[in-house]
Amino acid sequence: MAEKKKFQAIKGTRDLLPPETELWNRVEQTAREVFGTFGFGEIRPPIFEPTELFARAVGADTDVVSKEMYSFEDHPPEIAKPRLMGDYDGYVLVVNNLMASGAVPKTKENLRAIAQFEIFWRVFSESHTDVDSLLKAAYYAREIQLGPEVALRPEATASVCRAYIEHGMHALPQPVKLYYTGPMFRRERPQKGRYRQFYQIGAEVLEMVPPNQDPAKNIGKDAAVDAEVIEMVMAFFARLGLEGVKLEINSIGDRECRPKYVELLRAELLKVKDKLGPDSQRRIETNPLRVLDSKLESEQGIIAGLPKIADHLCANCAEQYAEVKRQLGMRGVAYAENSRLVRGLDYYMRTTFEITARGLGSQNAVCGGGRYDGLVELLGGPPTKGIGFAIGEDRLILSLQEAEKGGTAQGRDVFVAWMGEKAQATAIAAAQKLRAAGFRVELPPVEQKFGKALGQADKLGARYALILGDDEIATGQWTVKTLADGSQAKMSEAEFLEFLGKSKPLSS
Ligand code: HAM
Repeated sequence: MAEKKKFQAIKGTRDLLPPETELWNRVEQTAREVFGTFGFGEIRPPIFEPTELFARAVGADTDVVSKEMYSFEDHPPEIAKPRLMGDYDGYVLVVNNLMASGAVPKTKENLRAIAQFEIFWRVFSESHTDVDSLLKAAYYAREIQLGPEVALRPEATASVCRAYIEHGMHALPQPVKLYYTGPMFRRERPQKGRYRQFYQIGAEVLEMVPPNQDPAKNIGKDAAVDAEVIEMVMAFFARLGLEGVKLEINSIGDRECRPKYVELLRAELLKVKDKLGPDSQRRIETNPLRVLDSKLESEQGIIAGLPKIADHLCANCAEQYAEVKRQLGMRGVAYAENSRLVRGLDYYMRTTFEITARGLGSQNAVCGGGRYDGLVELLGGPPTKGIGFAIGEDRLILSLQEAEKGGTAQGRDVFVAWMGEKAQATAIAAAQKLRAAGFRVELPPVEQKFGKALGQADKLGARYALILGDDEIATGQWTVKTLADGSQAKMSEAEFLEFLGKSKPLSS
């Protein structure tokens, strides 16, 4: 007999269950409404994309891409990477056939890998039988790329930019304003507020730069767009009643001024290298800006003394940053400046921001975003400006729950307690009418003693029990029990519908 196996959700993933999912739906519905009022439309990009898209957009050296991405070779079903001690006879034949049909990529690298394997395998199968040779054969066989590398998306900005290019959205009235909701995947160490499958609600504004227009122009306009995007997230959080919301902003410069600042920072960091931890020491070489992000207690004093990017912005960046602040002021959006806010993805320039909320412990960033002019171009599209954000929905929900703003609705409007065949027909008809009017109705599939039925109604958190027995059917006077206070009343069907109609359905 097969061994009984208990399956569990994979580490870092989880099931979202009722009643909590009601809150998720409410949050997403509110996002749709609020973003709609700002003229955003929904985009639903696929959940997996070419790995190369994220490597290019987010940056091959970022943690998100280099350490945390779920990436795999999307090979055709007819073939898979051979096992180490595999039987290679026929393997190359199949690979060659699949390549001829286009199912296996016909790249220069692949043709070379196949040729190498063929040479080795011919020699090996004739004369070598030692393990070392077999390992070499396996190595060459595995070098053959059987399909494109694809990845579960770690974020969606890259996908939105890819879609903007693919669908020629630059030809639409600009800017194009899009929002999305859905799962993202990062292989991080799971903890409260940090998961391997998590959900984002994000929005992006993309605007092609007309030919001959200097992208550095229109600084005032760009700043107003930045401020409106931030205003929109804040309006969304306010609508949800999210507490302890703090917005931090920064400018990280552009291609003009950032490299100079990074060099300055590197030089300063080299002077204090010995006092830094191993991560920061490494980052002096790879990405000195990320040192500013360090949470290590012992490094905080050193970081406070480092040069600040705000003092090293070029004239255009400084002008835009000042204008973003003025625009936020005009919109009544409170903010704090944080010169250490650098963000962990490579595509940002100028405006960056992060929002934290109460009740989240160390993973308290509930939203992150910024400007990414040039990203669409980097992905093969026309020169385009971009700004957007993504909200961590899991964290948003946690924060709402901590503040008890997540009050989930009661379970049912009406529990229909019925006894007897005639009563069942009436109960079914009543349930149909009530459900059509939007009320949540529980209709037991088999008759129950009234005492048991009322107990169940209570457990389900029903507001009313509609009691239908022989008497009620004979007289046409239904018994309605209000569960909160135990009071009971007799009323006709019409009276009951009117009575209920005065109270809103739970689902509304
Ligand atoms: P991000 O800062 O990497 O930015 O992620 C945005 C938000 O997603 C974070 O502030 C956090 O709330 C949530 N988040 C990230 N990782 C996890 C995780 N492992 N578990 C739970 N929540 C998480 C981006 O993704 C950019 N695409 C945002 C953006 C859009 N920038 C411009 N447009």
